[in-house]
Amino acid sequence: MATAVAPRVFKNFINGEWVDSRSGKAYENRNPANTDELIGIFAASETEDVDAAVDAAKEAYNKWRLVPAPKRAEILFRAAELLLQRKEEYSKDMTREMGKVLAETHGDVQEAIDMTYYMAGEGRRLFGQTTPSELPNKFAMSVRQSIGVCGMITPWNFPMAIPSWKMTPALVSGNTVVLKPAEDTPLSSYHLVQALTEAGIPRGVVNLVSGDGPNAGAPLSRHEDVPVVSFTGSTAVGRLIAEACAPDFKHYSLEMGGKNIIIVMDDANLDLAVDGAIWGGFGTTGQRCTAASRLGVHKKVYKEFIERFVERAKSLKVGDGLDPSTDMGPCINEQQLKTVMRYVEIGKYEGAKLLAGGNRLASGAYAKGWFHEPTVFGDCSPQMRIAQEEIFGPVVSVIPVEGLEQAIEVANGVPYGLSASIYTRNVNQAFAAMRDLYTGIVYVNAPTIGAETHLPFGGTKKTGNGHREAAIAAIDFFTEWKTLYIDYSDKLQRAQIDNN
Ligand code: UN1
Repeated sequence: MATAVAPRVFKNFINGEWVDSRSGKAYENRNPANTDELIGIFAASETEDVDAAVDAAKEAYNKWRLVPAPKRAEILFRAAELLLQRKEEYSKDMTREMGKVLAETHGDVQEAIDMTYYMAGEGRRLFGQTTPSELPNKFAMSVRQSIGVCGMITPWNFPMAIPSWKMTPALVSGNTVVLKPAEDTPLSSYHLVQALTEAGIPRGVVNLVSGDGPNAGAPLSRHEDVPVVSFTGSTAVGRLIAEACAPDFKHYSLEMGGKNIIIVMDDANLDLAVDGAIWGGFGTTGQRCTAASRLGVHKKVYKEFIERFVERAKSLKVGDGLDPSTDMGPCINEQQLKTVMRYVEIGKYEGAKLLAGGNRLASGAYAKGWFHEPTVFGDCSPQMRIAQEEIFGPVVSVIPVEGLEQAIEVANGVPYGLSASIYTRNVNQAFAAMRDLYTGIVYVNAPTIGAETHLPFGGTKKTGNGHREAAIAAIDFFTEWKTLYIDYSDKLQRAQIDNN
């Protein structure tokens, strides 16, 4: 079959120039909805490429950190304007390389636009504190300082939004960047880097090396001139990053798995809850760390909810994300599809009731892609593997619950703690849930997905390591506090001693 667009060759971006990988190695990036379509050929980077990128970023840091933050921010503002102008084109390219439907890739690019504008605004804030000193004729304040070269390793499910979450706060704070985007979705990161570069980011301040985790990501996380590492991806890789960072006491932020629940109480607006569960469970083909992969449904409404939910899940149209009638695109790659298929077998083996889907779609229009039916398992017990482990695909496990107390116990009874949601019209139950759900994000009468850029994003337990992305929280990660004391008394004043 002919390719829809002529394949292009993409190089690394190091010190303001597009360069081949040192080894000359490259790899193909294909459309997960139609693997005949080649999106592009990308550099397969290794340690030497990472080293060159880090050297450039280290050199550029000397000047960039001294550029006034409002001026750094103006560049980001211009980049946001460019992203806005190119939203349609970038979204289409993202659907081609990632598979999610166009409405969602519009959302992904928009999230990058929102984040870039937001961080541009931070350029005139980056607030610290001033506070009275305990001693006379002495002034005290704290300021934020940049840290240096930030290594960023980003996932394929939000190929532009997540790199923007990491790059824009790092840049406005005065750091320089080496980005290693997911192997499956480098094109969208190229687009973001392109916009930043055209907006005026100086050479060496942003560098991009494409390639896989072991060959490009690992040397970046280990590099001695990279004091900050920011990672979003699987818990297994997150642990490797933590181990790579620990010996040098690097700052590292990990954003990893989720097993997010929507609780549906007996007084919920069921139509709304079904809408939310469909969007939360099958949006992005379930490939969000915020995906609603579990539903805890009150037994009084369980039967009715299941009937409606299953009917809706069965009616979802699976297909190419560029087709406007498609509700759900493919899985990202063969490996991810196989993981989904394996979990379907695990669910059946564990005795959960397969109520919808359960199969790969591989005939006719689906033959060239990694498609799977939207799948629902009912009558799950909270301890089943399909109700405990992150699947990252279109599989939703429904657990009957007796009431709020048990629902919260079930919600909290997993290793992860990213997002949770409750559908109820009872304000007391809503507030109890907001207090007791031990997750980084809680929604009331909305699904588990859809975080906004000006509020902290991240999770508890094995979802992360205590940091948050987005909002001011991201600035906290990419800066360090420096406390300044200015004594203008012209004499030695001893804190804690001379004034007591
Ligand atoms: C992710 O799945 O890694 O809240 C990020 C959301 C999106 C971001 C998801 N704004 O679902």
